[in-house]
Amino acid sequence: MTIHKVGVVGAGLMGAGIAQTCAQAGYEVVVREINQQLLDKGLSRVYSAWDTMASKGKLTPQQVEENHARVRGTLDFADFADCDLVIEAVIENMEEKLRLFPALDHVLKPDALILSNTSSLNITQMGAVTKRQDKICGLHFFNPAPVMKLVEVVQTISTSPTTLDTVKQFAVSLGKTPVLAKDTAGFIVNFLLIPYLLAAIRMLENGMATRDDIDAAMKLGCGYPMGPFTLLDYVGLDTTMWAAEAIYEEYKDPLYAPPPLLRRMVISGMYGRKSGKGFYDYQ
Ligand code: CAA
Repeated sequence: MTIHKVGVVGAGLMGAGIAQTCAQAGYEVVVREINQQLLDKGLSRVYSAWDTMASKGKLTPQQVEENHARVRGTLDFADFADCDLVIEAVIENMEEKLRLFPALDHVLKPDALILSNTSSLNITQMGAVTKRQDKICGLHFFNPAPVMKLVEVVQTISTSPTTLDTVKQFAVSLGKTPVLAKDTAGFIVNFLLIPYLLAAIRMLENGMATRDDIDAAMKLGCGYPMGPFTLLDYVGLDTTMWAAEAIYEEYKDPLYAPPPLLRRMVISGMYGRKSGKGFYDYQ
């Protein structure tokens, strides 16, 4: 199957990054948000990334113009009707996903694929509320989506081999390296990353070391690009908590139970960079 037009549901941090990545790779992209304000915010995030790239000489003014022409915003699912593939990047909430998937199934052409960017929710469950379970799988990007080279292609028990092949080829066409994971909570990366991030929060809660020393230790001692608290703020504390909860729900392993401090920060609206405050202050 050849992909020409891509739909992206959600223009938040991940949705905007995914739309940017697809447009840069030459695909026609339609991005859908629930209201004009969120749509404008997401599109301006994409446009300013291209301006930055142009200012660094990574894109010519003509390429910026071509990229702009390939991306269109919408509030209406009907604009997905001629998409070959739709990637959902809405809030990590199963009820939301279970409302979204039948709506997409209804509007999309019969052979279109529906991919979820979920980081840990059950994709088999999302597929089960559609009439195209064989055309559903995960395509999990990492933040920042335009920069990080990995995508996890997540296979449900119903995903067909043809769908997997198409999605892997699509990932490569975006300049990404796909790895194949089964649809189990956390897939590969979050199954390993979440316990590390939660352990850092527990160390802080227990007074074992300071935030700055833990960050410096992992950055300089292990060569990680960011320490755990910088990364938590970058990924989003809310996103981290939802991922942890989803994996905990599946395995009931205390390693994945969100620590009290994380819960309280999320309740207080301290989501990290995107809200202006997390473990660090960005205001
Ligand atoms: N579009 C295009 N380019 C972008 C960009 C965007 N949205 N965001 C950053 N970049 C580019 C920058 O312009 C810069 O380019 P140059 O090197 O050519 O100047 C390059 O990326 C590096 O950015 P910076 O110079 O700003 O900063 P940096 O060197 O510190 O790198 C980083 C930033 C790539 C984020 C790096 O710190 C890093 O790799 N951090 C770890 C990120 C990570 O682990 N992500 C995965 C999180 S887990 C997840 O996402 C999964 C989940 O489900 C929770």
